Parts: sequence; C-alpha cells; structure tokens
Amino acid sequence: MTASRVKLAVGSGGYHLPGQQTTRQGGTRMPATVVVGTQWGDEGKGKVVDYLAGEADGVVRFQGGANAGHTIVNELGEFRLHLVPSGIFRPGVVSLLGTGTVVDVQVLLDELGDLVARGVAVDGFRLSDRAQVIHPVFMEIEAREEALRGSHEIGTTGRGIGPAYAAKAARFGLQVGDLLDEQRVKESLELLYRRYAAWLGLDAAATAGRVAEACEALLAAGRRVARYVVDPLEVTRRWVEQDARVILEGQLGVMRDLDWGIYPFVTSSSPTAGGAAAGAGLPPAFIGSVVGVVKAYTTAVGAGPVPTEETGVVGDALRARGGEYGATTGRPRRCGWLDLVAVRYACLLNGVNRLAVTKLDVLDELDEIKVCTGYRTPEGRFDVVPQARFFDRIEPEYVTVPGWKTPTRECRRPGRLPREARAYLDLIAEHVGAPVFLTSVGPHRDHTVRAGS
Ligand code: GDP
Ligand code: IMO
Ligand code: MG
Repeated sequence: MTASRVKLAVGSGGYHLPGQQTTRQGGTRMPATVVVGTQWGDEGKGKVVDYLAGEADGVVRFQGGANAGHTIVNELGEFRLHLVPSGIFRPGVVSLLGTGTVVDVQVLLDELGDLVARGVAVDGFRLSDRAQVIHPVFMEIEAREEALRGSHEIGTTGRGIGPAYAAKAARFGLQVGDLLDEQRVKESLELLYRRYAAWLGLDAAATAGRVAEACEALLAAGRRVARYVVDPLEVTRRWVEQDARVILEGQLGVMRDLDWGIYPFVTSSSPTAGGAAAGAGLPPAFIGSVVGVVKAYTTAVGAGPVPTEETGVVGDALRARGGEYGATTGRPRRCGWLDLVAVRYACLLNGVNRLAVTKLDVLDELDEIKVCTGYRTPEGRFDVVPQARFFDRIEPEYVTVPGWKTPTRECRRPGRLPREARAYLDLIAEHVGAPVFLTSVGPHRDHTVRAGS
C-alpha cells in the first residue's frame, strides 16, 4: 500500500498545491485509498474496509445513507452498519460520516447506541455538519413514488434516499449543522411541506401539525447528535497536513451509480471514486489508490437488469451458501455468475488499481464455474456496460472454468489456495487489468488472504 503522493501545503487562503511536489522526509507515503463496489452492491465493502482500517488513521463514508448495509465480523462480534463508517472498530481511527451522505439521525443514534451497548467505543465517530438530514416525510414520498411507478418500481430500500437527494439538489434540504438552530429547522420544514403538502393531500392544519411534530423530533435528535458534529474540514485538513492514511468508503456499486448505473434502476448518488473527494471533503490529489471490491459471483437487490442472474438451482445454491439476504431490508438477493463486463466497466470508471475479491469460499463446492466476459446484443458485442436501452436484449457470453472442490476458509496465503482458485483469480485480474491483493474466504476479518500491499 505504499506509494508517493502529492504534498499539499496549507496557506492563508486554504490548501494549495506547491509548485514542486515533495514527499515526506523524501520517502514514500501512503495516500488515501477509495474502496468501491464494482457490481450491484453488497460486494463485502464493509469487511474489506474493516480489514484495511487496521492500517489507517481515518475512514470516511462519502455518499449514500442508511440504504447501505455493511456487515462486519471481527473479534467484537457481527455488526451491520448502515451509517457509521466501517473504521469504527479500530481504536484510534477517526470515522467520519461525510458531507456527501444523507443522514437519518434517528437511525444513526440507534446504531451508535447499539455499538456502545455491545462494547464498541465510538469516540472516533464524527459527523459532517454539511451532510444532509433525512426528514421523516422522505420515506412517505418514496413509498408514493414507488407506488406511482407500478410495474416500473425500482425496489428501493425505503430509507428516503431518493427524495433526500432530490430535495438537496432542489435546495429544499437541511444540513446536519442546521439541526442546532431551531429557527432554521422550522423554516426549512415549512418550506419542505409547502413543496409537498398538495401532493400528500395535507390541508393547512395538517401541514402545521406535521411541521411542529417533525421540528420537535429533529431538534431533539440534533441535541443528542451534537457532540459528534464537526466541520469536516477540521478533520480532513489535518489529515492532509499530517499525511494521514485515509480510506474513503463507498456504498453500493457502480451498476447502481446515478450516472453510470442502469438508469433508472440506480440510487441517487455516485458510489464511484469520482464522487469520493467531493463527498469526503478531500482534494482529489490526496487520493492515490482505488480498491475495487469484487464478489466472486453476482448479487443484486431491487429491480432492474442483472444479465447473469440465475433464477434456478444455481441461483438458489449461491443464495443459500452465500447467505444472500439484504443487510438492510432482509430481501433475498438475486444471484448469478460473475459478470466481468460489469467489473471491467467499474475498474475503468473508477481507475481501480487493486482488487479485493470476496466470498471465494462460496464457490468451493462447485464442479464448474461460469464467468461472463461479454454481452451479445443484436447491435453488436459489448465488453463494457452499454447504456440502459441495450439491456432488454443482452445475451451474456460465458467462459466455463473448473471448480476447485476444496475448502478455502482456512487459507491465509495465496500459495495455499487451490490451483483452480488461483486460476479463477488470475482470470479476473487479467480480464479487468488490475491485480488481486486481497482475497476473502469467509466473513470474519481473519478470513483474509493478503498478497502484497
Ligand atoms: P457490503 O454492503 O458491500 O459491505 O456487503 P454486505 O455486508 O451487504 O454483504 C456481504 C455479506 O457477505 C455479509 O454478510 C458479509 O459478512 C459476508 N462476507 C463478506 N466477505 C465474505 C467472504 O469472503 N465469505 C463469506 N462466506 N461471506 C463473506
Ligand atoms: P450496500 O452499501 C445493495 C439498491 C436498492 C435499489 C436501488 C435504489 O450495502 O452495498 P435506494 O434505496 O438507494 O434509493 O435504492 O439500490 N440498493 C442497494 N443494493 N446494497 C446496498 O447498499 C444498496 N443500497 C441501495 O435495492 O435497487
Ligand atoms: Mg450491503
């Protein structure tokens, strides 16, 4: 994980790039690393970030909200994090919930309370005062929008994500810092309900009642969360000054990216590395490496195209062995073979320079494994993801490779993995043009095979 990066200096007007780039003490330094999902989400980002956070000073969640479900299993137990960054289990690591996120403050408080009750110290947790607040009404709007779509529903997580980002972009949102100011909360809620009252069928009296109720709830939540609220620049500028090792934790995966995913079956933010600097509040030049997390097969929750989905015995076997049920909604995940068209696309878009392949052990018992390396359509063949309109007519092109039929759970070094498993990893690496530096063979932090830095 060592590489040189640009030194940033702080001048009176803030950060500037010095004309001459230097490295600390003339040596190599560890730049920030973005960890992104390369598929439809649930690749095992939480596990990978928890593992890598052992070598970090800070972790920032840079987008999304409580739609995320990042599962972590370590010596403290099994945890499902929705908002708290996955660095929280590492003493001394600052875990910042960044500006690009949309925060359901009650969910956050419950999550922090649960962590504390289970013996996890949360004093490293920080919350950006610029992150957006999820209003209770957003869930209601989301449910109505989904109903409105009928058979075209997206299958969202129901966490208010779409309406929250829509309100943010339309400038009807509320930032976390505003929760500490009663007047701002009240004004913002009045405006918000002015926007939605007719649509929700609320008359003036009902609207006033709703505003008063929401105002009280948000102010109470704001008082409880206040101790964690920071100006994120105070954290990030110190990291830059001190050459800190920082991990930027993405949510979901590229196929659900607002711009690059299969629109409209996407989330409302950018889980790609391009969004990481803005969402975290770090200069892009501070980012030196991008880890792409690849599940050894494909899963997706929610509607929309998944070209390699297997609806029969193969899909059922992957779901059963991989425990593929949504960490946030409990929905059974749609399962299928590894789609290297999607992963290659993710690697190109994100500039992935290292891969972490997860859930290899789930394939341990298979005789043969199929891997999709191209999409055939009447308009031609694609080896990266085309625009959404092509997805009705996609025929996945597969190669079939032999399984290893050997348990991998106890492997800790690449050389210990069965030959066929190593060949499978090589196939992935060669196809997408990035080396595998981490292989996960089980949910626990220790179930990890590390190859180099
Ligand atoms: P995330 O959203 O990308 O963090 O992924 P999720 O936590 O939603 O889903 C990954 C699931 O797989 C979780 O239940 C993890 O505990 C589990 N998991 C992660 N890595 C491995 C692995 O290598 N093998 C197995 N069997 N399970 C894993
Ligand atoms: P992590 O971070 C898997 C999916 C939903 C739906 C689409 C839009 O754990 O990988 P949204 O609620 O964001 O408006 O829903 O995105 N989705 C996820 N799928 N893992 C997630 O998070 C997801 N977050 C959202 O199922 O298809
Ligand atoms: Mg998940």
